Amino acid sequence: MSERSPHIGLAHTYWKCHLKPGDLAIDATCGNGHDTYQLAKLLLVHPESLLIGFDIQSAALEKTEKLLKQSVPEEHLARVLFQRRCHSEIDQIPLPYSPALIVYNLGYLPGADKKLTTQTTSTLASIHKASLLIGQTGALSITCYPGHAEGRLEEEALLLWAQELPSSQWNVCHHRWLNRANAPSLFWIQKIS
Ligand SMILES: C[S@@+](CC[C@H](N)C(=O)[O-])C[C@H]1O[C@@H](n2cnc3c(N)ncnc32)[C@H](O)[C@@H]1O
Repeated sequence: MSERSPHIGLAHTYWKCHLKPGDLAIDATCGNGHDTYQLAKLLLVHPESLLIGFDIQSAALEKTEKLLKQSVPEEHLARVLFQRRCHSEIDQIPLPYSPALIVYNLGYLPGADKKLTTQTTSTLASIHKASLLIGQTGALSITCYPGHAEGRLEEEALLLWAQELPSSQWNVCHHRWLNRANAPSLFWIQKIS
């Protein structure tokens, strides 16, 4: 697990344990494509698997597509669909079957305009819709960055939302790194069958 970014390492470990051959996963914040690439490696070897990636920025999707083209066999790329739109429209795309995993790595694109960060209202709208879309035993993986103002608001709002999910239907876990001020945190939220 990455020592510098343990939240990312832990998220990737969860994904590896959770995903099964033929699953559909959605990356709701493609950014530089590192998470999408992890999902592609885990999933696309199976001919029925699908991967959908969202970002509001063309530059992010271009970087993600470039990374996948460099590192994933060409025949696998046919099962990747990119959506340049807000992830609050996650319920607007036709899906052949329910996603097993929907991933959010919130915040802004590293090295780009920090104003183009995820926003509490649209993030919550998207995550609520995602919770309705995922299949039985499906999961949401959400990385938060409380070290910047909007990121703190997002984390606070998500904590309130997640704590209200009924325990008969959801396992809700929030990982926080206690000895680092304002460290990123990770939610793992899984539907109970
Ligand atoms: C921290 S980055 C994601 C990092 C990425 N997963 C990776 O592995 O490189 C956050 C991304 O969310 C995108 N974003 C911001 N608001 C969004 C929205 N409403 N819908 C979809 N993507 C959004 C930003 O453009 C940025 O690329």
